[in-house]
Amino acid sequence: KKVAFIASEGVPFIKTGGLADVVGSLPKCFNKDEFDVRVILPKYMCMKQEFKDQLQYVTHFYMDLNWRSQYVGVLQIEYDGILFYFIDNEYYLAGPKPYGNIFEDIEKFAFFSKAALSALPVIGFQPDIIHCHDWQTGLVPVYLKDRFHDGEFYRNMKSVITIHNLKFQGVWDIKTVQDVTGLPKYYFTPDKLEAYGDANYLKGGIVYADAITTVSETYAEEIKQPFYGEHLDGLMRARANSLRGIVNGIDYNEYNPETDTFIAQQYNARNFRKEKVKNKVALQQELGLEVDPGKMMIGMVSRLTDQKGFDLIAYVMDELCQDNVQLVILGTGEERYENMFRHFDWKYNGKVSAQIYYSEPMSHKVYASSDAFLMPSLFEPCGLSQLMSLRYGTVPIVRETGGLKDTVEPYNEFGNSGTGFSFTNYNAHEMLSIIRYAENIYYNKKREWNKIIDRGMAKDFSWNNSAKKYEELYRWLG
Ligand code: ADP
Ligand code: GLC
Repeated sequence: KKVAFIASEGVPFIKTGGLADVVGSLPKCFNKDEFDVRVILPKYMCMKQEFKDQLQYVTHFYMDLNWRSQYVGVLQIEYDGILFYFIDNEYYLAGPKPYGNIFEDIEKFAFFSKAALSALPVIGFQPDIIHCHDWQTGLVPVYLKDRFHDGEFYRNMKSVITIHNLKFQGVWDIKTVQDVTGLPKYYFTPDKLEAYGDANYLKGGIVYADAITTVSETYAEEIKQPFYGEHLDGLMRARANSLRGIVNGIDYNEYNPETDTFIAQQYNARNFRKEKVKNKVALQQELGLEVDPGKMMIGMVSRLTDQKGFDLIAYVMDELCQDNVQLVILGTGEERYENMFRHFDWKYNGKVSAQIYYSEPMSHKVYASSDAFLMPSLFEPCGLSQLMSLRYGTVPIVRETGGLKDTVEPYNEFGNSGTGFSFTNYNAHEMLSIIRYAENIYYNKKREWNKIIDRGMAKDFSWNNSAKKYEELYRWLG
């Protein structure tokens, strides 16, 4: 079977969040004898130069987008055994970041979605399955069904859309969207692309895809309810028979404490008791924290947005800083959270370290060095950071929602079970008390703590299991 992934980001080329990890790592994990999986991405001008230099020109053509005729360049690179195609257009893709304001993006991703589909016959790749991701490629199933694709070439293709985050839907007024997409009026009714008077790309994808997946089983249930449904819970219920949750994995080669070259001291599930702490000491030195191998270090690596529960942290930060802990934050995002952490870095000098930037090497250091990893999300479709933490023997402290609930098993001191700590209600003091419970185990029951790490490191969150579920879905779609 042939499968085309169409997405707006993918590692190692371009990344703003977990979507890129998934798009870059999942395609490698399919059974190569049965599946030919290729990936189509935008060739952003801001993509890493080392990769831009390696792309090979394949072809170009012109495509109609309503009354506009647009240049579509196609480039390619084989990376780690996977063929990646890049769609080029310097008018749409020249921004300093992959995503700009919504008005730009609405037109950019209409172009990209149609261009990716239009490129298929030109490059001679006729997939059985088109697998698109999030709102940016929500129009792909729509264009696929539209008369524009009446041609024999597209007739038997099936589409899958994976929802990585229901919050972002690509919403703009119908008139503009009609203009930039060239889609006829017919599509802009409440049973199709219209939602609450506007046009909604993700809704279009959900309505027209043959199958819908999201990135954990719990999130697949949650989004059928108003609280998590982002105003589309009715649609999610209506399409419940075609909706499935498949939990994400992570790249076990990329995230491997035994071979990781970013970290000060490599270690594994057998020797972490002695070796892991050397990473903490190295990071304490590097970041100017008090150097003390015995001090509990709590790490965070995250986009700084409301989704991730930072208002809870803001609320009890002063209280938490009275405890015998160190906090390391690596992240960028909303200014108020960036400034909040800078403030606490200054106020609790030597105890709190705010690293307000994006850095892959630093993220690996935080995963490897911390004793616990804090992720109190308001909602979390899957979450990859807690999986990385488990892989590095760093105990996750999470709120029980979405993928966090499905991947972190709460510690039970009577049952000799659990891989982390969790709390249920979105409440700052509930979070604080579970952190303090974890501190107590860390300081007073070190053997128990290490057994939690043992169990976490023994879990398998590689793509092995989940890739099989996508394979099943592709086979079932025919
Ligand atoms: P989301 O996609 O919602 O941001 P995930 O947990 O699925 O959350 O994925 C986040 C990814 O982005 C992880 O790979 C994490 O390590 C990475 N990441 C987030 N912020 C930073 C940062 N400042 N520097 C490096 N990596 C980061
Ligand atoms: C989104 C979600 C995150 C998920 C990621 C990859 O960014 O916020 O929970 O892990 O996509 O699927």
